Amino acid sequence: MRLCIRYLIGQTSQRCLATASTNHQQLRFDGRTAIITGAGRGLGREYALLLASRGAQVLINDFGGDRSGKGGADLLENAAEKVADEIASKWPEAKVATNCESVTYSDNARRIVETALDKFGRVDILINNAGILRDRSFGKMSLDDWDHVHAVHLRGSYLMSKACWSHMCKQQYGKIIMTSSTSGLYGNFGQANYSAAKMGLVGLSNTLAIEGQRNNITCNTIVPMAASRMTHDILPEDVAKKLNPAYVAPLVAWLCHENCTETGGLFEAAGQWYGRYKLQRTGGQYLPGLREGNDDSVEQISKHWREICHFDQRSIQVDSFHKHLTHLLQTLETDDNSK
Ligand code: NAI
Repeated sequence: MRLCIRYLIGQTSQRCLATASTNHQQLRFDGRTAIITGAGRGLGREYALLLASRGAQVLINDFGGDRSGKGGADLLENAAEKVADEIASKWPEAKVATNCESVTYSDNARRIVETALDKFGRVDILINNAGILRDRSFGKMSLDDWDHVHAVHLRGSYLMSKACWSHMCKQQYGKIIMTSSTSGLYGNFGQANYSAAKMGLVGLSNTLAIEGQRNNITCNTIVPMAASRMTHDILPEDVAKKLNPAYVAPLVAWLCHENCTETGGLFEAAGQWYGRYKLQRTGGQYLPGLREGNDDSVEQISKHWREICHFDQRSIQVDSFHKHLTHLLQTLETDDNSK
């Protein structure tokens, strides 16, 4: 696979990369290195532009290829180089490198990270953004369609995070972003492969957030909605007009900034709306009779189905396993005391 490396440093211009348009202190990324996968177009391109404009050294990775992941940089236009050119023309002193390998292979992931380390000396930010679609209803979905979508989204994000991990641990600093989707959170017709991979990323992010804490590595997941090649035939034109991918970038940049301490979060950005998800759990129903192994156990579940499922004032927001377990143990204790 061809490895394309560009290193752009403007020689002449001394002006600042970007100037704050208002009086408040601009949140900048000077001295930080960001790797952004799939940054040759769409959302990834916006992240690259915004971070470069605020002083970050950016490694733009993009394999190229079509929306289904076929083709690649050797066959089609080199999307990563185009974004590097765009940054160079807007901010001549920006430091940018490119790589056009697929994130689906561990050697490639290692090389992408090595490229950033060789050129910039460190890796502070990893935005796992590369993505493809192979939509088909479940009955018609081939194993290849399943595997390939998982390889890019879930395996690719795993490989890239793994390749960055030891460097981030060593420098005691890291910001990782996973990219999920409403298709994962809610399901979507024709996207069994994509939904499963996107929900898998939420689990991966939750665990990396826990494991990263002792090394000052944060990991958060975003759920974007934006007009891009991926959505051009899905979103109605009037909706697409409101969903400029540039609007997603500020949320991602904030999560990658050193002032942001959030970790293990799940955030949505769509148009100019930003929000957060949390898991909610019902108060549930304790059924002491079941522990004696009564043979009406299934009937007991059926009888109390409403209490098990109903969200009321006893429902809780669960944002950690610790909170989950504490709540469970309190419930069991209450029952023991009531005997
Ligand atoms: P896009 O199709 O415009 O950009 C994706 C980029 O990833 C492409 O440039 C493509 O060449 C690159 N890519 C694909 N496979 C790759 C690989 N193996 N290695 C390296 N690069 C690869 O899509 P968009 O909309 O910008 O999506 C970015 C991310 O956001 C994706 O993960 C997508 O699933 C996710 N997303 C997008 C939504 C939207 O509304 N646009 C909604 C929910 C999630």
